[in-house]
Amino acid sequence: MKIAVYPGSFDPVTKGHLDIIERASALVDELVVGVLNNNAKTPLFSAEERVKMLVDVTKHLKNVRVEAFSGLSVDFVRRCHAGFIVRGLRAVTDFEYELQMAQTNRSIERGIDTIFFTTELNYAYISSTVVKEVAWYGGDISGFVPPEVTEKVYEKIASRKADGNQGG
Ligand code: PNS
Repeated sequence: MKIAVYPGSFDPVTKGHLDIIERASALVDELVVGVLNNNAKTPLFSAEERVKMLVDVTKHLKNVRVEAFSGLSVDFVRRCHAGFIVRGLRAVTDFEYELQMAQTNRSIERGIDTIFFTTELNYAYISSTVVKEVAWYGGDISGFVPPEVTEKVYEKIASRKADGNQGG
């Protein structure tokens, strides 16, 4: 059984993430989307909220499971009995960080390889950070995130603004 883990922050999940999930899940028996719960930065959405949104947008994919994790990605990968980590590469600017992460992970755990998917060109400029920034200033994010996610981002940002939080 081929199991892969796609770890990330997914704060929130974008159309680019979903494209990677769809393509990666077609290649393995099971794809576990791992939602990191120990970000240094305070995320916009809680891990539970991010998991729920991912479950919503992947319900058409029967071999995809979503789970929150904390600690090292490789430890989570081992707990899932997976042999591969999946990551997306949008542009050359992602490469240095992704290479370092893949090499670090492989040096910690030799049995785990990282597979990279090149992001669909239409989504290459999209990031969760950009989504939050555009939404913060009232821009249209419907082209960047799945339809189930759009309103949730606006609502969450509105509640942050109501709380007096200045950050995006
Ligand atoms: O979506 P992101 O924020 O680019 O995902 C980054 C993520 C979660 C894959 C990375 O930060 C990670 O694996 N964090 C867990 C801690 C870890 O394993 N660090 C060692 C790899 S350098």
